[in-house]
Amino acid sequence: MTLDHASADPTMVEMIRREILDSYDEEMELGFEDDRLDSLEGGSESSSERRRYFRELLRLQHELVRLQDWVQHSKLRVVVLFEGRDSAGKGGVIKRITQRLNPRVCRVVALPAPSERERTQWYFQRYVTHLPAGGEIVLFDRSWYNRAGVERVMGFCSEAEVEEFFRSVPEFERMLVRSGIILLKYWFSITDEEQALRFHMRITDPLKQWKLSPMDVESRRRWEDYTRAKEDMLARTHIPEAPWWVVEAVDKKRARLNCISHLLEQIPYQNVEHPPVHLPERVRHADYIRTPT
Ligand code: ADP
Ligand code: AMP
Ligand code: MLT
Repeated sequence: MTLDHASADPTMVEMIRREILDSYDEEMELGFEDDRLDSLEGGSESSSERRRYFRELLRLQHELVRLQDWVQHSKLRVVVLFEGRDSAGKGGVIKRITQRLNPRVCRVVALPAPSERERTQWYFQRYVTHLPAGGEIVLFDRSWYNRAGVERVMGFCSEAEVEEFFRSVPEFERMLVRSGIILLKYWFSITDEEQALRFHMRITDPLKQWKLSPMDVESRRRWEDYTRAKEDMLARTHIPEAPWWVVEAVDKKRARLNCISHLLEQIPYQNVEHPPVHLPERVRHADYIRTPT
């Protein structure tokens, strides 16, 4: 299928339209403030839907700031794993979560393929380094679950190593949780058709080409293998201490809102009172800007 063929198909045209609108909105979001929401032109159904989306996203981002305050104040340690097929939208939701937060409190870990040295270590070792200290939130854009997904499907590890992983992971995660870490695991779920479309968009959009790796291309061919690997993974690592939450992610915007509001519900946080801040007398800019005489 090419985009030319696709443009003859009305549902495909609609999907492409939505995808383009979404990239456009992504740029706008970065500059959005509450009071600018009203300037979005009203009228058509899609623009009022978009307005609702922006409004809800901003509301959730305000809540995330309150959560951040509470995490810092109470010295909580929070770990959130984002898993899913290539192009499922993990990066997109992570970006919205971090957008208005302090990078010292909330950081993203997206590890590359393991180095030669790392390959000789205990499998979990390179992830453990990135676990949070008190007052930190760490978002894993892919995680130790690589062993049950990409590594297994692409044959980067042996089946014996996969088996050992499945034996270890519940113990490993229980240890984290017992130590007081709040651990949340999200699986972003998309359809075969939606992934095909997103890959096509990545091929044709120069701003998105960097997102398309050789690994992604191969994962199209191995869709069925990934399905089996995913089912196996979810079945064997869904434990009461750290359950999986599946996010329906074909509709990106809804997926982001659902995931963020779910995350907020999982962590009981309260308001932190801050003493009022008093700014010192303002110094005139001119005092600071002069020629170097
Ligand atoms: P992403 O989809 O996260 O942008 P890729 O599609 O390139 O990145 O790779 C998917 C995942 O596969 C990454 O987490 C990467 O670390 C992992 N990976 C890639 N090559 C290897 C390898 N040779 N061994 C183990 N993991 C690998
Ligand atoms: P199955 O296709 O489920 O009958 O599995 C056949 C063999 O492939 C078994 O040894 C499985 O453990 C292994 N296997 C299953 N799923 C995957 C996968 N996604 N990637 C690599 N190996 C797999
Ligand atoms: C992915 O799933 O590959 C990433 O989330 C990229 C994205 O769609 O934002």
